[in-house]
Amino acid sequence: MRRSPTNHKGSELPEALGTRYSDTHAELSAARDTYFMTQAEPPINKPTYVPYAPNLESPAPEEQQQIDKITAALRKNNELQLKKNHGHAIRDAHAKSHGILRGDLKVHPDLPDHLRQGMFAEPGKTYPVIARLSTTAGAIRSDQVRGVRGLAIKVLGVLGPRVLPDDKAKTQDFVFVNHKVFPTGDAKEYLTMGVPLAWVLARTPDRGMLVVNAVLRGAKRLLKRFGAELPDSIGLFAGENTYTLGETFYSAAPIRFGNYVAKISIAPSSGSVTALTGKTVSADAGPDAHTKAVVDFFRNNSAEYVVSAQLLTDAGTMKIRDAIEDAKLEWSEDDSPYQPVATITYPVQDSFSDERRSFGDDVLEFNSWRAIEDHRPLGSINRLKKEVYLASSEFRHEKNGKARREPQTIDELPK
Ligand code: HEM
Repeated sequence: MRRSPTNHKGSELPEALGTRYSDTHAELSAARDTYFMTQAEPPINKPTYVPYAPNLESPAPEEQQQIDKITAALRKNNELQLKKNHGHAIRDAHAKSHGILRGDLKVHPDLPDHLRQGMFAEPGKTYPVIARLSTTAGAIRSDQVRGVRGLAIKVLGVLGPRVLPDDKAKTQDFVFVNHKVFPTGDAKEYLTMGVPLAWVLARTPDRGMLVVNAVLRGAKRLLKRFGAELPDSIGLFAGENTYTLGETFYSAAPIRFGNYVAKISIAPSSGSVTALTGKTVSADAGPDAHTKAVVDFFRNNSAEYVVSAQLLTDAGTMKIRDAIEDAKLEWSEDDSPYQPVATITYPVQDSFSDERRSFGDDVLEFNSWRAIEDHRPLGSINRLKKEVYLASSEFRHEKNGKARREPQTIDELPK
């Protein structure tokens, strides 16, 4: 007998919330049905999407104190970089941009009900977007230094109740890195591991970073021979220096996805950018190799990327609390597959004119809390981000004497 859809606590769900994700994945569904049919006792509930509810989040009592300490420590980095950059303030993370792009995001026309959520609710709807490609350091470094790459997307004209009470904007921001998970799971771990790492990274010169990269790559190769791996937080600096436009980007931390909860990814889909996936940038291409590569690419090429939502299900053994609160946990893609919801298209353009760079770096901010309630950021790392992004952005806008602006139309982005 087929059981009614249930939530992760076993209570019955309304039909819409109990949608079986496997309905959109026929093969997975068939494999799972075979499994269920061969299991005699006890009866196992089929996986359901975890419904969003405010009590999915469970902040530790000491979290606010940890966030205050982190925000104060990161301010010191902001001040150090202000001096190093001759009075020009930069972002405390992802300071160097490699391209500021204009594009369109089109919601897929044939989405099933469970994916028609939040800004993806209207099939076929097209929104203008502004994207900023970056590298994670809170310093302007050579592009030859390995590190995490970033992608920030600002979607224009998104209507709906806002997460932040005073937010009158109609923009929806998403921030991504080219890793599925964040190396520190919550504010507590960021305080003990992330803050010291950020301190070292802000103070190590490029040549020191290049030596660290080389040593770590050697260690990675050696460990591989013994079937071992570097810890995630360190392994990030041992990767190949691959083209940013060929990378897949992940929100790493979860957000509300209307009735559900999801992590988001953006992956290259047109041949123009899949051809760059895994390709290494030449060591001779100089300190602005990534920026030049993006400029050269968009001089003659357009690009497409697929936006997917990894809706959390109650399958598997991961606790729902941990899935929400611990950003270093990878959600199994067998249990919670990424499902395409939209395509972003970037046309041929000048991706890094002086006016664009200055607008993207000094006028704009990207912050996942600039969001509609349907895409509320969730979990400890996101609650931490709410305060540090605001602090970093306020510092830089104030020191540079540039007012923050949320664009209302795409024409505000300089050509
Ligand atoms: C899920 C994890 C995270 C992702 C995906 C992420 C990604 C990004 C990206 C792409 C940007 C660049 C935004 C832009 O172009 O303006 C950024 C900026 C920034 N990130 Fe994160 N980040 C994450 C976690 C954190 C954490 C844990 C901290 C610190 C505690 C942090 C601190 C910052 C700061 C200070 C900025 C600059 C904000 C500004 O000045 O406007 N991020 N992040």
